[in-house]
Amino acid sequence: MAKKIIVVIGATGNQGSSVANTFLGLPEWHVRALTRNPSSDASKSLAARGAEVVRGDLADPSSLAKAFENANAIFLNTDYWEIYRPAKAALDAEGKAPEPASVKAFTNETANGKNAVDAAAAVPTLERFVYSALGSVSKGSKGKYTRSMHTDAKGTIVDYIETKPELAQKNSLIYPGAYVENPLLAPRFDPGTRKYAIHMAIREHLKMPIINPRESTGPFVRALIEDEAPGVKLLAYDSYLRMDDVVDRWSRATGKEAAYVFVTTKYLHEKMGLAYEHLDALDAIDEFGYNTGLGLIEPHQLKNKVQTKSFEDWLGEKDWSKELSA
Ligand SMILES: NC(=O)c1ccc[n+]([C@@H]2O[C@H](COP(=O)([O-])OP(=O)(O)OC[C@H]3O[C@@H](n4cnc5c(N)ncnc54)[C@H](OP(=O)(O)O)[C@@H]3O)[C@@H](O)[C@H]2O)c1
Repeated sequence: MAKKIIVVIGATGNQGSSVANTFLGLPEWHVRALTRNPSSDASKSLAARGAEVVRGDLADPSSLAKAFENANAIFLNTDYWEIYRPAKAALDAEGKAPEPASVKAFTNETANGKNAVDAAAAVPTLERFVYSALGSVSKGSKGKYTRSMHTDAKGTIVDYIETKPELAQKNSLIYPGAYVENPLLAPRFDPGTRKYAIHMAIREHLKMPIINPRESTGPFVRALIEDEAPGVKLLAYDSYLRMDDVVDRWSRATGKEAAYVFVTTKYLHEKMGLAYEHLDALDAIDEFGYNTGLGLIEPHQLKNKVQTKSFEDWLGEKDWSKELSA
């Protein structure tokens, strides 16, 4: 029997590599990995493991039409930071406010996402589309916090999918939690107190979903495609922990004492140099909650349980000797 084809966008990255790996392990699926650079090490590794690696660029609609031919499923991830980071560095060096970097990255990501949605909507063989989303902070905070444009870019693409009724009825959404490697979850050494601490602008009792994207995205996307009906919106996480529990588990894994210090976003901006691109999301979580009102289900509500390693497992397996200075 002919294999079903899944096209994975971002297959050389964190989330997409996990999706590609999961489907490469399923005999009934053929994995087509889209990349701008088929000769990168990540692309070569995918090809060596049996993926069909095709050159394509989300900025180039004709490359997408070709890459999506005969697809049964498409996993779409769009990226923000590749454009944001150098733009912010350049603008900061000029002494300008960083927000124009957000506008540039938002414009790029939403254009890319819309290209992919348009191309997917024209694929007659398509049975399932899965987009990796984030809840828009502007919407979630009812317009109060508008500078976390990486979340608004994803929300804009989600809204755009809804404008294509044929695609919308084949669509599932995965909302990955914060990555295990997210610097906001890692205590830093404070030379003043000689202790580790997380300085955070959300209260310690608030919970954060945490995921290892390179391991867990694929199993969750497989569940959405094979076990669930379209329309499911999944908050995907390995662990869903109170912020003070994040610190507690980090301390147990590393053997280092660490404190949780609640500070304002103004403090994080002025004393630690963090941009409002990140900070508005923290203010919104603290005030309005995480992804409220989006109708997300959680992993325990999936029809078949998806077993992933916990954040504690990841902390325990990591070699901390190189990272911890004191
Ligand atoms: N950090 C967190 O805690 C967190 C949590 C949830 C969601 N996210 C979101 O995750 C997204 C990034 O996902 P990731 O971590 O999996 O990405 P990543 O590891 O940084 O890799 C980016 C991927 O996107 C592909 N890509 C970028 N631009 C492309 C284009 N124009 N055409 C085709 N492919 C393109 C790259 O492929 P090639 O280079 O091979 O072409 C690569 O595979 C961000 O938008 C971020 O907001 C982050």
